[in-house]
Amino acid sequence: MFDRKEYEKRIRWFQHDRFGMFIHWGLYAIPARGEWVRSVEEMPEEEYLPFFDEFDPVDFDPKKWAAAAKQAGMKYAVLTAKHHDGFCLFDSQYTDFKSTNTPFGRDIVREFLDAFRAEGLKVGLYYSLLDWHHPDYPHFGDRNHPMRRKADPAQEAGRDFDRYLDYMHHQVRELCGNYGKLDLLWFDFSYDDMRGETWRATELVRMIRSLQPDVIMDNRLEASGEGFGSLATGNPSEYSGDFVSPEQIIPPDGLLDADGNDLCWEACITMNGNWGYHSGDKNFKPVSLLIKKLVECVSKGGNMLLNVGPDARGNIPQESLAILSQIGEWMRRNSDSVYGCGKSGLPKPENGRITRCGDTLYYHIMEPAIGAVPLYGVPKDKIRSVRLLADKSERFVQDNWIVNNYPDMAFVEVSPHAALPDPDDTVLAIRLKK
Ligand code: GLC
Repeated sequence: MFDRKEYEKRIRWFQHDRFGMFIHWGLYAIPARGEWVRSVEEMPEEEYLPFFDEFDPVDFDPKKWAAAAKQAGMKYAVLTAKHHDGFCLFDSQYTDFKSTNTPFGRDIVREFLDAFRAEGLKVGLYYSLLDWHHPDYPHFGDRNHPMRRKADPAQEAGRDFDRYLDYMHHQVRELCGNYGKLDLLWFDFSYDDMRGETWRATELVRMIRSLQPDVIMDNRLEASGEGFGSLATGNPSEYSGDFVSPEQIIPPDGLLDADGNDLCWEACITMNGNWGYHSGDKNFKPVSLLIKKLVECVSKGGNMLLNVGPDARGNIPQESLAILSQIGEWMRRNSDSVYGCGKSGLPKPENGRITRCGDTLYYHIMEPAIGAVPLYGVPKDKIRSVRLLADKSERFVQDNWIVNNYPDMAFVEVSPHAALPDPDDTVLAIRLKK
């Protein structure tokens, strides 16, 4: 039976923290054409295995990654312990296809966990349900597998999906049992009839909960970026997971379940157009946009998981580091309007967005005004104080002939110039009377 109280307790930190780092990393950093390279190019395994013999990211230093995440104001991080290619970044006893067997020879998951925990960040692991390396995972006819169009008559008959499931369950047990407390598990993904009990999901989730009672999980044992899973029905299954995982989209109106309860969700977003490192993709989103999108997520009751794809030397791309550092600049002054905040209960104002924490509204001004800024929707008679969040300086609700034609609207002079002090997003902290 679904215990909503328990559930709300479990997800509290997640709904508070709002902002995390996704890290996609593996052998695919070497071909550097994204993490789907094997599937997109229908590449046979023999052509991929040389990357395994070559994998030696000499610059790998997860402390640097953790420092970059922390500095950006991120509160948690999720690393691909195994992506669809089946390559494991941890020392699994059930496969040879793992980082400890490459020239690099190290357990990347363990080092990642140590470094991020040391920075006080919460830690999560991504685990792919798909596996393009395991001989028992469906090949021919599977819609994603690199060998989907090439039947291998000698092999097809011998594939035993149950053997794959045993393998997958064993590995999840290793991750949950051998690496200390995990805050989050991110499964990826279900499709067609590959969902729910096809993964032996009830058994899997019971095992996970027995080892990691407080861990929170995404919804992809049932769904993918597509579909919401049974969380959205208001009557979740045992393996519904704890949050919905919209991918490359921010739900236009946030998300509610069938009973009208706010759903817990996290939008995962790339900085450029790829999850895994892509040497040719320089199409990075502007910082100002990413700041606004983080605020948009929070104002709609969700989180943002922003991705980086380190290269084959183990470095987060320079462009991504620059973005993180500039988001950090903004967060250093404005993170009170993100952490612990959510929907305001007010309609979106035309000049920005509103987030809320208790009796404080955070009015994010994203469009300058002529003169004083109108605070759409803010109940004027309830305003106790207004501060510019960036330096906590006092601001006043105006009372003069210019604004008095609009008696119900609060106007605040933010700066003596038309330009906003922070052109990306100038935040006012508005305390309301009880
Ligand atoms: C997709 C892709 C995958 C990526 C994930 C992140 O489902 O298959 O490559 O890891 O999205 O959300």
